[in-house]
Amino acid sequence: MAAARVHPGADVDPSATLGEDTVVWHLAQVREGAVLGGECIVGRGAYVGPGVRIGDRVKLQNHALVYEPAVLEDGVFIGPAVVLTNDLYPRSTGVDGALKRPDDWDALGVTVREGASVGARAVVVAGRTIGRWALVGAGATVTADVPDHALVVGTPARRIGWVGRAGEPLERAGDGKWRCPRTGEIYVEGEGRLERVSG
Ligand SMILES: CC(C)(COP(=O)(O)OP(=O)(O)OC[C@H]1O[C@@H](n2cnc3c(N)ncnc32)[C@H](O)[C@@H]1OP(=O)(O)O)[C@@H](O)C(=O)NCCC(=O)NCCS
Repeated sequence: MAAARVHPGADVDPSATLGEDTVVWHLAQVREGAVLGGECIVGRGAYVGPGVRIGDRVKLQNHALVYEPAVLEDGVFIGPAVVLTNDLYPRSTGVDGALKRPDDWDALGVTVREGASVGARAVVVAGRTIGRWALVGAGATVTADVPDHALVVGTPARRIGWVGRAGEPLERAGDGKWRCPRTGEIYVEGEGRLERVSG
């Protein structure tokens, strides 16, 4: 393991923490107090807001925007130009016309749980949670929490299937069960949820 590598031209605040083997590419910005684990990749032009917490082996693709106080667990994939928003009813000013400062509003972060992926140019509305190993299709607008292993697409995002830990859509295996074509793992569906039972 080696110390984190920050390319010249990246802007990483001195108070941010980067784990071993994490790489930050040029034109990326990591704000004050952000914490990134080990073996992360922060792509060109990506933005990590103040105090954002990111686990190990997380990929932020080019121009992904991760607004505070988002939490990204281990193994999360954030595609190019994704926006994880933090304000449901945004305004630049209060009704008095004065500029709103950080203390004048409560930021509401997005949570992306272990192993989940968010496809290119998707937008996740403030405060929503993307469940473990879920997959959000390219261009989706996520307006509600996404269950573990759900495959969601569209605006607003709707579930069109299930994905396993390998990321590929699962195939029906009868009797409420689903099989991963890549790994053979078996999952069981019940009450709108999916759980891995073998593999
Ligand atoms: C969502 C996704 C995983 C589906 O892939 P798939 O299982 O091969 O699905 P299919 O292409 O067979 O499409 C299934 C249906 O969903 C629709 N669909 C697929 N992707 C969609 C998307 N991103 N948004 C809206 N609808 C989508 C298809 O039109 C099709 O609809 P139909 O049944 O009415 O014809 C894939 O399209 C996707 O968006 N992957 C993310 C890619 C990405 O952003 N990668 C980031 C790294 S660059």
